[in-house]
Amino acid sequence: MINKVADRMSLLHTESAFQILARANELEAQGKSVIHLEIGQPDFKTPQNIIEAAYKAMNEGKTGYGPTGGIIPLRETIAEHCRTYKNVKTDINEIVVVPGGKPIMFFSMLMLAQAGDEVIFPDPGFPIYESVINFSGAKAVPMPLLEEKGFRVDLDKLRKDINERTKLIIINNPGNPTGGMFTKEDIYAIADMVRGKGIYILSDEIYDRIIFGEKPVSIATLPGMKDWTIILDGFSKTYAMTGWRLGYGVMNRELAEHVTMLMVNSNSCAATMTQWAAIEALKGPQDEPAKMVKAFKERRDYIVDALNHIDGIHCNMPEGAFYVFPNISSFGLTSAKFAGRLLEEAGVAAAGGTAFGSHGEGFVRFSSANSLENIKIAIDRLEKFCKGLR
Ligand SMILES: Cc1ncc(COP(=O)(O)O)c(C=O)c1O
Repeated sequence: MINKVADRMSLLHTESAFQILARANELEAQGKSVIHLEIGQPDFKTPQNIIEAAYKAMNEGKTGYGPTGGIIPLRETIAEHCRTYKNVKTDINEIVVVPGGKPIMFFSMLMLAQAGDEVIFPDPGFPIYESVINFSGAKAVPMPLLEEKGFRVDLDKLRKDINERTKLIIINNPGNPTGGMFTKEDIYAIADMVRGKGIYILSDEIYDRIIFGEKPVSIATLPGMKDWTIILDGFSKTYAMTGWRLGYGVMNRELAEHVTMLMVNSNSCAATMTQWAAIEALKGPQDEPAKMVKAFKERRDYIVDALNHIDGIHCNMPEGAFYVFPNISSFGLTSAKFAGRLLEEAGVAAAGGTAFGSHGEGFVRFSSANSLENIKIAIDRLEKFCKGLR
């Protein structure tokens, strides 16, 4: 049967890390050993206190629909977290709770962007940005994040790319796939470029607690920027809750009403027991997330040093998130080919850099969401693989 789907379906793209995972699983099913460094999900269990809070909520019968925008106690807790951690003053009317961080990308694009608009997105960056911009009908304009600039924004280029059609600029700090972080000065400069021009910022702050140095500055804290910023955040990464599907957006009240309208038309609400558990995540003890960050830092330090000792590879030091993005261009293979052969021939699953945009050519992304022991095996395999390519 040939399905006649709407034309817009061809505008969507997938996340190739999931395709690599599928191929890696096939190889494992054939009995091959694979070390998984392709997927962006913490290798830790959700902290027990959060699991207990979900049990408790379910036992108390909190299993029905909740308010579309999220239960009030969770929105209050998120508002408090934004005030204390991000330094963003907000209240429950500006917060919409959704199933994961991703829906905020999708809803922001559906709500704000359309044909004739331009949306600037980080490249390399999370692949879903470009996909949902295309889906909205707007033109996707890459913001190249180059290795020589520490994967930070090129402010001169951005200034040139902003015009009267620019509707929205996406920033992701610290960033996937590079682990790079915009400086405070970068954020101030971006705010100066857009202020008073009717341009929104989608500030993806999902990794803002997985950092190894200074805390990133949320652009929403700068004068005049709060009403023009949509903050995307969630529980997936910080609390190892990827499968729970819980995230939120912080935006001005009017936009929050539109996002709530999109929610009622698509999800009704995020899972109720998950929301009660998320209150415990933010209010309960924070030692488990702190332990995860410590482990990610140890792994980052090891991987970056080990990669820089492999002939033909060099790697910047990420400042946050749990990825490293080494340059493999000296081997003369495309990123996709390098990642494909690394998986098939050496049993190491990684994502090719172009999975994150055309400016990812020449790089691969390793996720450090695996044990140090396994990472060491992967590095040994990678080193032998690279020797074989010489
Ligand atoms: C930069 C970035 N933003 C958002 C998300 C989506 O997170 P969630 O799983 O909560 O939808 C991810 C997940 O990988 C990400 O890397």
